[in-house]
Amino acid sequence: MENKALITLFGAAGDLAQRKLYPSLFKLYQKGYLGEHFALLGTSRRQISDEDFQQMVAKSISGIKETEKGQAASFIKHFFFQSHDVTKPEHYVVLKDRLAKLEDQFHTTGNRLFYMSMAPQFFGTIALNLKKQQLLTDDGYNRLVIEKPFGRDFDSAKKLNDELSQTFQENQIFRIDHYLGKEMIQNIEALRFGNTIIESLWNNRYIDNVQVTLSEKLGVEERAGYYDNSGALRDMMQNHIMQVVAQLAMEQPVSFTDSDVRVEKIKALRSLRVYTPAEAAANFVRGQYDAGQNTNAYRDEDGVDPHSNTETFVAAKLLFDNYRWSGVPFYVRTGKKMADKFTRIDVVFKKPLIDIFANPRMQSDQSLKSNILTIYVEPEAGFSLRVNAKSAGQGFKTTPVDLKFMQDTSTKEEAPEPYERLLHDALEGNHTNFASWSEIAYAWKFVDVARKLWDIEEPQFPNYVPGSMGPAASDELLARDGRQWVYRL
Ligand code: BG6
Repeated sequence: MENKALITLFGAAGDLAQRKLYPSLFKLYQKGYLGEHFALLGTSRRQISDEDFQQMVAKSISGIKETEKGQAASFIKHFFFQSHDVTKPEHYVVLKDRLAKLEDQFHTTGNRLFYMSMAPQFFGTIALNLKKQQLLTDDGYNRLVIEKPFGRDFDSAKKLNDELSQTFQENQIFRIDHYLGKEMIQNIEALRFGNTIIESLWNNRYIDNVQVTLSEKLGVEERAGYYDNSGALRDMMQNHIMQVVAQLAMEQPVSFTDSDVRVEKIKALRSLRVYTPAEAAANFVRGQYDAGQNTNAYRDEDGVDPHSNTETFVAAKLLFDNYRWSGVPFYVRTGKKMADKFTRIDVVFKKPLIDIFANPRMQSDQSLKSNILTIYVEPEAGFSLRVNAKSAGQGFKTTPVDLKFMQDTSTKEEAPEPYERLLHDALEGNHTNFASWSEIAYAWKFVDVARKLWDIEEPQFPNYVPGSMGPAASDELLARDGRQWVYRL
């Protein structure tokens, strides 16, 4: 149960490390997944003593209960720091020496996990130096965990991947997509492949369309520098949305192992129709938020170019050219400063071919509604299935009712955070919830068409008000097909 590992963290003083990684490692330590045989060597360009670094880690978990303080004190003793300039080969020699010592001290049996939590332009350099300066071991495993963004388009992603591949093989690379660590995203597989009544209907004979919404209430906050250079298409759609869609669209894997799941996700993304520029213009929608009551327009946010054409909203219609999904659109959308913060998936089923209740003699003024399976990802976790039932009382009318399961608060609170799950999986060497290179490559090829188009065409921004569900064109995308978003204001 205990994972023996020596973790080298590049970007150890960064925001992500302090907000997510140290608290998650502490949880793993408390649960016994990490124990006496683990150490973390943090690096950054700053000069920090081991003691100060341990205090930084202590601070990042300071929200703990009084009874956990003892554990926290022994936990932070596993943390060490080395000031490091990733571009200087000689610095890796120092790093190598420290790693060897920590390995002896904590008996980590040669298992090394390198975590890059920093600007991606350095990933290639780090990987190359790890190899050249011989920081990889022959005894245990060598693994690499990296954070997005994984490139800016297909070409830059490929270049990055080629660089990493000189040091690490695909089965040693763990590309984090924190959406894959979410309880209800993982539940997609359980729901689909654990239930005949769902999987047997999970195709174009019974499903009319699928909708994925990742809605955010906040704006760019203090990340304008990064975001203005990225936009919603790169920040959310190329990664999180495409991963969610792949889980929804894939065929049943031969077994629930990482290699079998990967094969199916890759196949699904391969069959996603890559649009021509003209098709992309018709099937993608972009938006940027305007000023609202007491809130700035995106272009007036601190750190944003006042003429910025960066999109803070994107919606798209995706089509899979395969036997299961031919003719079934997947509508997706995500944006900042929208009505609320939530993630949900709505699977809209076809209506019965004949509505016998619509017969005028039945005196029914209502027609049957579509069955809808909704997966609530966040903030609530659960799912509901909308079915038509008879309205209670005299006469005969039908009315939609929801069969609903929602996780209770305590279950939700006890559920591990995405980073805790994913770090644990990486320590265990389980790739199921990490994105493979091929998935990333297909996702880029799909979004690149829209990106290139948008880079040359002047948008009419701003085009949506804060607190809405995005620009009108997002509703029109579905209205054109005679459909509408299930979640609307
Ligand atoms: C990140 C994006 O990957 O996901 C952010 O960079 C976004 O812009 C965040 O806010 C949303 O994640 P979550 O888990 O809060 O939905």
